Formats: sequence, C-alpha cells, structure tokens
Amino acid sequence: MNILIVGTGYVGLATGIALAKKGHKVRFYDKDKEKIKLLKKGKLFFFEPLLQEALKEFTKNQNVFFFDNLKEALENIEIVFVCVGTPILKDGRTNSKDIEKAIKEIKKYATKDLVVAIKSTINPKVYTSIKNILASSKFHLSVNPEFLREGSALNDSLNPSRIVIGTENEYAKKILDKLYAPFEAPKIFTDPMSAILTKYASNAFLAMKISFINEIANLSDRIGANIDDIALGTGLDPRIGKDYLKAGIGFGGSCLPKDTKNMVKYAKEIGIRLDLINSVNKINERQYKVVIEKLQKHLVSLKSRTIAIFGLSFKGDTDDLRNSISLKIIKDLEKEGAILRLHDYLAFKKAKKIINNAFISDIPYFVAEGSEAIVIATDWKEYSHLDWEKIRKLMKGNLIIDGRNILDKDLLKKIGFVYEGIGRK
Ligand code: UGA
Repeated sequence: MNILIVGTGYVGLATGIALAKKGHKVRFYDKDKEKIKLLKKGKLFFFEPLLQEALKEFTKNQNVFFFDNLKEALENIEIVFVCVGTPILKDGRTNSKDIEKAIKEIKKYATKDLVVAIKSTINPKVYTSIKNILASSKFHLSVNPEFLREGSALNDSLNPSRIVIGTENEYAKKILDKLYAPFEAPKIFTDPMSAILTKYASNAFLAMKISFINEIANLSDRIGANIDDIALGTGLDPRIGKDYLKAGIGFGGSCLPKDTKNMVKYAKEIGIRLDLINSVNKINERQYKVVIEKLQKHLVSLKSRTIAIFGLSFKGDTDDLRNSISLKIIKDLEKEGAILRLHDYLAFKKAKKIINNAFISDIPYFVAEGSEAIVIATDWKEYSHLDWEKIRKLMKGNLIIDGRNILDKDLLKKIGFVYEGIGRK
C-alpha cells in the first residue's frame, strides 16, 4: 500500500521503516527541510539503535522516499499517518498548533479519498478539532496510537504488543486492517475516544507503577529493607507484573510526564478529578530530591563540593534530554553551589549546548577524577561494567549515590565506596 508519514521523529520514522519492512511503499514528509536533507542521505538526526542501519539500507535500496513538499508527497497516497509532536504548555494543556497546521495542509493538498491515521498522542479536545477540520467525505479519520519506547523504537514497531484502531469510519477500518495484516499483534477495533484513552491509560499505568515503587523504596530506605527483593517478590505475582517496578529517581522523557500532566489538566477542564494520576505526578516531581538529601547526609554542605553526575539523558540508549531527571538534579546542585562534572555516552554534546560552568565528557574516568561523590542518574548499562577500582583511585572522596539502582553494591563496598541506592538496604 502507498503510505505517507507526516513528521519524522521517533514515532514517524520507526513506524514508517517498520511498515516498509513489511512490504509497504513508504514516503516521509517533514516541514523541516534540513531534516529531510539528512534523511535523504540515510542519516538520522537523533540516536536510536537499529533505526540508523535500517534507514541506510532502505534509502540505498530506494524503498523509502523523503519529501519536503507535502503536495508532491501526497500524490497517490492511500493512508497518511500523522506523527507530528504534540508538546504541552507550561500549564499542562496541549500545544496543538503543529498538529492542526499539519492537518489543515493535508486537507488542502489531498486530491482523492484518504485514510488519515493519527499516531501523535492527542486528547479528546484535539481530536474534535481535527475531526472538524477534516469534515468532508473524502477523509476517513482514525486514531491509531503508538506504544513504542525510545531506545527500542524499531523493534517495538515491528513487534507491537497490540494494535489499537479507533474509528467510526468503515472504510478506514477496512484499509487499516489490510495494512496491518502482516503484523502478528492482536488488533483492537474501537471508537476514537476509546483509542485515545487507551494510549493515555497505558502511559499513566506505567507511570503509576514507577511512582508506586518509588514510594515503597523511600519507605524501604527508612526501615532498612531491600527494594530489589520487594519489587521481585511483588512483581512475580502475574496480576502485578515485574516490569516498570525499577525504583529510582523518577520517570522522565517526552511522554510519561507530558501525557500524565495533560490527562489531569484535560480532565479538570471537563470537571473530572484524576486524583491518582495527579499523585503519580507529584510523587515523581519530588522523587529526585532523595539524591540531594542523600548527598547532604554524607557531605553536609554541598557548597564547593565536587560532584560527578553519571548520565544526562532521560534513560540509557538515547541522547534525548527532554524532561531528564538528571537535569533537575544538576539545577538543584548548581543552586547549592556544587562544582559539577558531568558524563553521558551520547547526550554529552547536547548537554554542552545548555549547561555552562561544568566539565562535560563522554569518558566516565575523566569525569570521576577529583570528585567527592558520584551520582548515577541514568540507567546506562555500561556503568555496571566500569573499572570501579580505578574510579575509586581517581576520586577525591568515596561516595556513590546510585539513583537508578544499577550497580553491584557489594562489590562497590568491598572496593571502599560508601554506597547508597534508592531503597536498597
Ligand atoms: C514511554 C512508554 O513506555 C511507551 O510505551 C510509549 O509509547 C511512549 O512513552 C510514548 O508515549 O511515546 P519512553 O518515553 O521511551 O516510552 O520511556 P520509558 O522506557 O517508558 O521510560 C520512561 C522513564 O521511566 C525513564 O526515565 C525511565 O528511566 C523511567 N523508568 C522506567 C523507571 O524509573 N523505572 C522503571 O521501572 C521503568
């Protein structure tokens, strides 16, 4: 089938490449000409494992095509996937300018019947506005949320756990059913509002599990229990499930914080209180403070103390700094007057553009040098394989605050570190 993807971020590119891998003809459009120029050369403008290789392979074999002109891109297209960003404003409302503009342009240039599938995360208000813009029998609207994670975007798109198609339009249903035929995942056909809420409910539930385990971890810390054992002992109950029970300094990224906040805001606007999800956010917003408290417990004043932060991106395997908890810690430490040394394997370049007055490197040993404490702020798996004996010798102090509970605490203690995890005995 002939498909057009509008918006070339994580969701757009991973969706399009996955569909191309399943044999569909895929075009990509982005209003950003620079991005399209790079993509035409087979280059990604962000880091995402496997996507770069797949992109190179497909552009070389001329199976995917890139456009910076929407009118040309739309010629002979049967389905357009809308994958443009839907950021939120400071007060939690959606900034729907970009998506509405994209929809208006699609309307302007479409010449024949078109299935419009919305992959961007939208709330009911934005959906209603899109529906009003596309109020013509030519457009067959559907909501088809995406559940991929950064860091495993292509794999998640190729092997989705479920495909949710929300539409009131029989033609859209038939076409999308055919499009997804090569995928093995269960398909859920529903109405648009239910599809929208399925996406929000999924992210809210994941966020809730994280805030839940973080709350238990804080209690565990106080009574000297071990959160790793608690998470295992709880998560092995199949009704609970062991994923997303990793305690730490909280959830970041461009999705969980944004969607949970937007959900609470939107519900409030229509007179519904989402107390549970609101608490999930509140717990998350203060969770990172445990790092500051633990540093103060050992170092007392943080003024002029040299502190190394390992990890800047919101999670490992990405260079994405959006809503990174690490940046919140950095901000607080700056306020306390600490001297900062920062490490990240990928995000160090982006960090250099936004953080002044700190030594920033992609080599952990350089960053550890002379520091009195190290804070692990991102779950880069490489950190557990570092030469910690060497790091101990390079440091001025011996304190480790493992904000992601990824290091071998017994080994570190043996080497001579004072180790503190989050809720780890
Ligand atoms: C999230 C969802 O997991 C995807 O299913 C969804 O499609 C996506 O948002 C989206 O809406 O687009 P992502 O933002 O890539 O994906 O990040 P996650 O892997 O879910 O991690 C989010 C944050 O939670 C990270 O900061 C991570 O370190 C933290 N986390 C995750 C924990 O603190 N503990 C855990 O057990 C799991």
